[in-house]
Amino acid sequence: MKLWNKGFEPDKMIEEFTVGNDRDLDLLLARYDVEGSLAHIAMLESIGLLTKEELTALTGELKEILAIIDRGEFIIEPGVEDVHSQVELILTQRLGDVGKKIHSGRSRNDQVLVDLKLFMRKEMQRVAKAVAGLFDKLQQLSERHKDVLMPGYTHLQVAMPSSFGLWFGAYAETLVDDMRFVSAAYDVANQNPLGSAAGYGSSFPLDRKMTTQLLGFADLHYNVVAAQMSRGKTERAVAMAISAVASTLGRFAMDVCMFMCQNFGFISFPDELTTGSSIMPHKKNPDVFEIMRGKCNRLQSLPNEIALLTANLPLGYNRDLQLMKDIIFPASTELTSCLEICVMMLDHIIVKDGIVDDPRYDYMFTVEDVNRLTLDGMPFRDAYRTIGMQVQRGEYRPTRSVSHTHVGSIGNLCNDQIREKMREVAAHLGVQV
Ligand code: ARG
Repeated sequence: MKLWNKGFEPDKMIEEFTVGNDRDLDLLLARYDVEGSLAHIAMLESIGLLTKEELTALTGELKEILAIIDRGEFIIEPGVEDVHSQVELILTQRLGDVGKKIHSGRSRNDQVLVDLKLFMRKEMQRVAKAVAGLFDKLQQLSERHKDVLMPGYTHLQVAMPSSFGLWFGAYAETLVDDMRFVSAAYDVANQNPLGSAAGYGSSFPLDRKMTTQLLGFADLHYNVVAAQMSRGKTERAVAMAISAVASTLGRFAMDVCMFMCQNFGFISFPDELTTGSSIMPHKKNPDVFEIMRGKCNRLQSLPNEIALLTANLPLGYNRDLQLMKDIIFPASTELTSCLEICVMMLDHIIVKDGIVDDPRYDYMFTVEDVNRLTLDGMPFRDAYRTIGMQVQRGEYRPTRSVSHTHVGSIGNLCNDQIREKMREVAAHLGVQV
């Protein structure tokens, strides 16, 4: 069935090419499509385009369709172009002419847009929840291992004392900033485009404020052209949020792989969480974190994909926009699955104690000793030279005592303050930390 049937059937090849896998992707929008229609018909009744009885009948049927969706039984029948057509078809089959009235003052352009906004708003909350889960785990580990030192590196050369408290806590705090991207994407999605119709509004006196309120949007896209332009823009915001989280998680995955390597040997995991080799009997590989790293690296290409797909599109609706679903829909699930498995792995991480007693890390204490001489009254540059010459002559012996007290350092991690920041950002998304 074509909503735009005008008495001829389009060529089959044309149909297959233009619809592609859009039907499958549209299934993820079904719930939001029905929710959008429920708001739209309530509004149509309020402006006299539906009678009370018609509204009651349509609402009842739409709720039936919601139940079908909840049971996982909703399908888009062969020959039906998209989710919007399927819902209208069901209503028309069950209610006759009343079903044909719901599209007044609406186009599939603003219909799919409202579906996408609702979908992306929800997805951003789901991502936020998963980010909060990893944040919690990292903070717990930071506290638990705050006294376990490890070498800090610059240029991948041993540099200064660091700690597991600092390492885990660093990723937790970085996630706070990523969460700000998620929150921004949520805000971009949280605006009502319904009523923009094909992109230029309607001559019906649509009550757009009413649908905004019914759908729980924080605000609306007022200008109908801007509303249509938000297709692509919203996806871009979501892609940037996903990419921000992925960049943190991918980097963490790399650290884990590196610290698991025998040359570092800082952490390990129980055997059953590692993978083996078909030829080397001793292997216990970090495949989980490698797959995570790979997936996160791919996810970072999303903003680029969207930028290219939407580059130089002329104003107004263009069918190219449909292809954005392919890019965005799997991405949030990909990301949340990475976040969740990361938490699961961290539940079992084994942290090695006494790493820095190994003489290979002796030089990591030079700055501590320079500072000690400085505190005893020697000018910093002289103290630097004194220790530097000891190193040069092979005479340096570390005192190994570390005392860092300032805000954000090994001895004063400020995890509570970091949690406060996260709490505030997450609360905006309705997520508790
Ligand atoms: N599947 C289409 C999309 O995602 C629905 C909107 C179709 N609108 C149109 N004018 N052909 O964009």
